[in-house]
Amino acid sequence: MSASPFDAWITADDELTGLLAQEWARQTTTVQLIASENFTSPAVMAATGSILTNKYSEGYPGRRYYGGNQIVDEVEDLARRRLTALFGADHANVQPHSGANANVAVYQALLNPGDTILAMRLDQGGHLTHGSPASITSKIWRFVSYGVTPRSDDLENPGEVIDVENLRELALREKPKLIVAGATAYSRRIEPAIFREVADEVGALLMFDAAHPAGLIAGGSNPNPVPYADVVTFTTHKTLRGPRGGAILCREEHAKKIDSAVFPGQQGGPLEHAIAAKAVAFKEASLPSFSLYTDQIVTNSRAFGTALASEGFRLVSGGSDNHMLLLDLRDFDAELTGKEAQETLDRAGITTNRNQIPDDPRSPFVTSGLRVGTAAQTTAGMKEGEFAIIAALMARALRTRTDEASLAAVRADVAELCSGFNPYATFV
Ligand SMILES: Cc1ncc(COP(=O)(O)O)c(C=O)c1O
Repeated sequence: MSASPFDAWITADDELTGLLAQEWARQTTTVQLIASENFTSPAVMAATGSILTNKYSEGYPGRRYYGGNQIVDEVEDLARRRLTALFGADHANVQPHSGANANVAVYQALLNPGDTILAMRLDQGGHLTHGSPASITSKIWRFVSYGVTPRSDDLENPGEVIDVENLRELALREKPKLIVAGATAYSRRIEPAIFREVADEVGALLMFDAAHPAGLIAGGSNPNPVPYADVVTFTTHKTLRGPRGGAILCREEHAKKIDSAVFPGQQGGPLEHAIAAKAVAFKEASLPSFSLYTDQIVTNSRAFGTALASEGFRLVSGGSDNHMLLLDLRDFDAELTGKEAQETLDRAGITTNRNQIPDDPRSPFVTSGLRVGTAAQTTAGMKEGEFAIIAALMARALRTRTDEASLAAVRADVAELCSGFNPYATFV
């Protein structure tokens, strides 16, 4: 088994080297369809593994609580400059350790405990930090949730899109202090202008959680929320193809409060090695080749949707405008749950995650849906033709899910497909 070339320094730790070699094999011989994952560049990985991990730098450039931060200040400033330029924002905070931290920091910065937040329903696409009972957010702030329109058989207007009337009605009735746009499982375009209009009608602040489409926005393949939102949060590791982490963009008037909420409000010392890797990713995302990449992600997602629909899967919301598709498995096979589909596809070398669909009769642990995304395999160079092959392989695996020999044959076909697509070829 060959090891990743990036792990060469871990030579003294046989146990870990062995595990990394196994994970390298998994990532390069199976298909990665988790919508929130990607393959970062070797430069991003090198920065993540750099000597900046050795430095403590609580505070912000020019205002640190420790000595020796002259170079680190420049690194963090570079990341902030590149990020504000990339999205056309007034101010950037690149310290959040994750997307969840970024969201909680914004709530902490702009709201008082008990204030009302209007966000997307969790069972219709919203994220845990949009008010899940399991999240600290729901214990501190009062959440009200908007949803999607009902499903319709009209092909021109399939429904299951953000219900703007419901959003407006709830906003007028509940008078939220903050409206959150953005989702974790929603395949359609989210129009920031509509959210701004509703927020202005009720005097609410607007936060756009761009965790998923951040890369598509940077590449110009999805609308940029920065001109409309008071604050934009996102993760750097999904379509943006950077290291694991979060970031916040905001209007100048909120900058001080946002910075104080991240540090010292939420976090201690920033991860400057991750911030350096974010800087690398922001530069990569500013290149013309990145726009070609994000356009291809969307093209692939649409082609994947067409191919999956022809195999009998129902596409929730009728299709995709981003990197993601949500499949209703019940039309394919009424007995098939999201849990069983995910586990079967794992055995066939196709990595996905189960997900609830709107009005799902099954629990979040079992579900009737599957979420798939095209960002990672597009990085590996796959195009519409390969996604049509993956759709056929998924259907074959799920139709023959009790037959281990058939699943092994699909797994071999998947490995054969992957052998022609090195995830790092794009970067060399
Ligand atoms: C919409 C949305 N917000 C926030 C997050 C949280 O990001 P993280 O997992 O980095 O905390 C996610 C992660 O999937 C997400 O989809």
